[in-house]
Amino acid sequence: KGESTLSITVVGASGDLAKKKIFPALFALFYEGCLPQDFSVFGYARTKLTHEELRDMISSTLTCRIDQRENCEDKMDQFLKRCFYHSGQYNSEEDFAELDTKLKEKEAGKLSNRLYYLSIPPNIFVDVVRCASLRASSESGWTRVIVEKPFGRDAESSGELTRCLKQYLTEEQIFRIDHYLGKELVENLSVLRFSNLVFEPLWSRNYIRNVQLIFSEDFGTEGRGGYFDQYGIIRDIMQNHLLQILALFAMETPVSLDAEDIRSEKVKVLRSMKPLLLEDVIVGQYKGHSKGGKAYPGYTDDPTVPKHSLTPTFAAAAMFINNARWDGVPFLMKAGKALHTRGAEIRVQFRHVPGNLYKKNFATDLDKATNELVIRVQPDEGIYLRINNKVPGLGMRLDRSDLNLLYRSRYPREIPDAYERLLLDAIEGERRLFIRSDELDAAWDLFTPALKELEQKKIVPELYPYGSRGPVGAHYLASKYNVRWGDLEDV
Ligand code: BG6
Repeated sequence: KGESTLSITVVGASGDLAKKKIFPALFALFYEGCLPQDFSVFGYARTKLTHEELRDMISSTLTCRIDQRENCEDKMDQFLKRCFYHSGQYNSEEDFAELDTKLKEKEAGKLSNRLYYLSIPPNIFVDVVRCASLRASSESGWTRVIVEKPFGRDAESSGELTRCLKQYLTEEQIFRIDHYLGKELVENLSVLRFSNLVFEPLWSRNYIRNVQLIFSEDFGTEGRGGYFDQYGIIRDIMQNHLLQILALFAMETPVSLDAEDIRSEKVKVLRSMKPLLLEDVIVGQYKGHSKGGKAYPGYTDDPTVPKHSLTPTFAAAAMFINNARWDGVPFLMKAGKALHTRGAEIRVQFRHVPGNLYKKNFATDLDKATNELVIRVQPDEGIYLRINNKVPGLGMRLDRSDLNLLYRSRYPREIPDAYERLLLDAIEGERRLFIRSDELDAAWDLFTPALKELEQKKIVPELYPYGSRGPVGAHYLASKYNVRWGDLEDV
């Protein structure tokens, strides 16, 4: 390791994502001793900044985990000393050639590996990749590029972006991030399924009635309206984060844990799915609302959003997988901004017990008495299995109870941020948690027809008040498939 150097260049260093997630994640990796001995971090952006100014900007966002408080200040200083800044245009080969010179100074003739993180708007992805690959690639080691969505707006534009990137990079060099794959509970999905005998045999249409993938935020698009309005919630959350979880949830057992084996199984399940139909999706948009004397703005009150925007900030969708394992099982997705609570979870509802002997002993109706497995991705990570249990006492009354694995009690150590794991994987060349181009194509094929129809037919989203539970349309959609949504707050 001592013989090689690693240079990480964060392109778009002054942006929000870089400040909030990438630099802090790099620091956390440094603290943990996960970065190679010889590394430097470069910020690249158009603004003119000195190294010191970049360091000041970064240092305000670095934190130490509760169990890392020791030497925290020291470590921060050491990390900041390795951070440098280079200002340049995103489409200037000369500016990237200058970056190359600076990188070489730091690399001092050693074998050099270079990682670029593109934390920039998608319309300049290709420019940056062209300039960086032509003028600032490593000559002795690897060069990898991390890109983050949006990868186009539909199947065509995404395919076009992939083609353009591949003029300059090979598929092996492109690391497409979906940060949900770096979340602890999402990574644990495969462990839960494939290393516990009690779950995998039940993982099919024979025992599972429906699967719900729920994402909810209790704040609006505040400050991001300009980006969001071009995309909407289906592209922002469903086509990537929720669909990725679905693929991991539903895929067949991979041949091994190798990236290609896992990604091939994910592609297979995505390609077995029916493209989403317009009749199986409902859309909503939040409107202003006052509560407790406080006024919450509507989506179109955002000055960066057009007054009559039809962009959905909420959507619910029913999807199906046409294979032997999942035929007929509704996979329901729900995602929304400005709702009453924040959370993300996977909820598996099992079938009724046939000929249940205890039918009469339930306090609630039988429908509510089926087993549920809930994987709470965030906040307050946990996994719980809802079972029926006898209420202790002389009578015979049943109620619902939980076998509850609460991470905060079982694993008190703070869970690393998703970006830490993903950055470390990219440095180590582990591609398991990154999206392969055929996966991306398959994902777009599922959503593109409905997205186009929504736009062409100018479907008006159902308005829901900021801070509410979202449009009632979501319940009609679920009941069409005999499903009752689980409640994020129902633990
Ligand atoms: C991003 C979306 O991908 O994920 C945002 O663009 C969203 O709109 C965010 O807020 C949610 O991520 P997390 O990790 O905070 O749940």
